[in-house]
Parts: sequence; structure tokens; C-alpha cells
Amino acid sequence: MDARSMEPDLVQAAAIAERKAEEWRRAAAEITAVIEGEPQPVARMASIACLLAQRFPHFFWTGFYCRDPERPDELVIGPYQGTMGCLRIPFGRGVCGTAAAERRTLIIPDVHAFDGHIACDSRSNSEIVVPVIGAQGCLLGVLDIDATAYGVFDATDAEWLERILSDAFGEYRRLLG
Ligand code: SME
Repeated sequence: MDARSMEPDLVQAAAIAERKAEEWRRAAAEITAVIEGEPQPVARMASIACLLAQRFPHFFWTGFYCRDPERPDELVIGPYQGTMGCLRIPFGRGVCGTAAAERRTLIIPDVHAFDGHIACDSRSNSEIVVPVIGAQGCLLGVLDIDATAYGVFDATDAEWLERILSDAFGEYRRLLG
């Protein structure tokens, strides 16, 4: 490809990236405004799941799995938007359980290529899972976002989600109970 045909592609890619960043700026500002003054973590999680799902219509499933204080090696379903989610996920199982066990964000372009992926809804084809880290680095749960298209999520999504979750839950010691 010569420089003349590449340039419009680069310009278009930059415009798409800027639109995406702008959507994330708006999402983060909206979330901050809504949860400010509301200390209950379940209310925060429900509002975040709702606002993300509304702002990004290509998010097919958006929700939280929380560390269960009664069974600390399991995640239990929290507030979400989307079709019926699995109720429990052991640490280390599926994308959510792996992100929880390894405490790191996982971007999965094709869930069918991920060993042990838990298919709650066969229409999900890609996902991002971000750990929710509370006070003194304790793991509170994960935020799971699925899409029906492949390869939807990237480092920009990861950065914004990590920032939003840290602002919303960074001072908490537990989410449930
Ligand atoms: N995708 C998850 C399971 C949860 S549902 O998709 C809502 C996983 O493999 O961990």
C-alpha cells in the first residue's frame, strides 16, 4: 500500500479512536456524577452496569461477579444488564474466574479460543473482564463485558474501565454482605 492510499486510512483510524475516547470520557463523567454521594456498592454496581450498557449498545452483557464473603474462592453474580448469567464461577474457571485468580484484566477477542470459557449465552463471541480491586489491594470481584462481535475490546477499553472501577470501589473492603 503506498502512502497516498494509506493516509486516509490513518486519518479514519484516528477519528474512530477519538470518537471512542470521547464516549469513554462521557461515560466516566456520567458514572462519577451518578454514584457520587451513593455509598452502597450494590447501587454503584447497578448504576455502572446500566450506564455502560446504555452508552455502548454493542455491549451484549455488562455486569459484575462479586467475591462471595461466605465462599471466598467463588464469584457470585452481581448486578448486570443482559441475558441470564451463570450464578457462580469458581476462581480459576472461565475468563472471569481466571481474571479474578490472576487479578488482571483479560481481553479476549474470541471466547471460543479461550480454554475453559463458560458460555452463559452462545451469542457472546468476545469479552473483557476487569478485576475490581478495593482497599489495600483486596479483590472484590470482576466486571465482565461481552459482545456478539469478535475482537471488540482493546487497551483503551481496559484503561477506562480500570480507572472507573478504581474510582468507584478503590476504598471498599467488600461488596456483598
Ligand atoms: N464469560 C464468562 C462467563 C460469564 S457470562 O458470559 C455472563 C466467563 O467465561 O468467565
